[in-house]
Amino acid sequence: MLRSIFREGLFEGQVILVSGGGSGIGRSIARELAVLGATVIICGRTLEKLDTVKAEIEADGGKAHSAVCNIRDEERVKQLFAQTLQKCGRLDALVNNAGGQFLSPAEAINVKGWNAVIETNLTGTFFMCKAAHHVWMKEHGGAIVNIVADMWRGFPNMAHTGAARAGVVNLTQTLALEWAHYAIRVNAVAPGLINSSGMSKYPPEVQTLIQQLPRDIPARRMGTEREVAAAVTFLLSPAAAFISGETLKVDGAGSLYRLQGYVIPEHTAWESYE
Ligand code: ADE
Repeated sequence: MLRSIFREGLFEGQVILVSGGGSGIGRSIARELAVLGATVIICGRTLEKLDTVKAEIEADGGKAHSAVCNIRDEERVKQLFAQTLQKCGRLDALVNNAGGQFLSPAEAINVKGWNAVIETNLTGTFFMCKAAHHVWMKEHGGAIVNIVADMWRGFPNMAHTGAARAGVVNLTQTLALEWAHYAIRVNAVAPGLINSSGMSKYPPEVQTLIQQLPRDIPARRMGTEREVAAAVTFLLSPAAAFISGETLKVDGAGSLYRLQGYVIPEHTAWESYE
């Protein structure tokens, strides 16, 4: 049984929707919130993965529902929130964790790849926030946490997701302002290098590179999924009642240190101005 550092029953009676809850960080977030008493709606694109996490949550004595939803499809997102309200009667919080990207130098990203990543990470997050606002939060308040990334000094080889996540940080700030008077808090969590199940999707040569990255992190290790889930839990909890518009980095101070793994090729391409 999963044990949480947070108070038992912290989210008892609450309903929390977690996108991308079928694996990795999203799965850990969903399990943490459920063990603290929340009824968790986990959404994603693959029912089988969602149902596996639902079963894990139920085995821990928690309550979960799984829902297939492509967050790029606004009509489907609206349906998801309408169904959540029908089934659970309320929606206290939303965690926008679903996302995806692929490795590529910027010059090789075509319009299809670019749009897919922007639509998932930025537009999909916007659709989810907007739907949560309309169906419940504008009347009753709520809390939203958006999961972003360590893109603070550019994101070499992932220009699309860097741009999308930076967009989500700004969206987080805008919504924190526009929705403050509805008692909706909107924050973000920016994980650094996390040893999540998603890491296994990268090809073996990239995996080898990833193993070397902790030397560029002051903490000298990768983070855990549960360390990200703990930050999300804090931001959703009453302990963060005065926090909105903030992005909390969970990166072992990596974003303050070297640019992980990226080396500028030797060159003399820059002319000087005398
Ligand atoms: N996870 C990754 N991409 C997604 C999408 N488009 N919809 C829902 N979950 C996702």
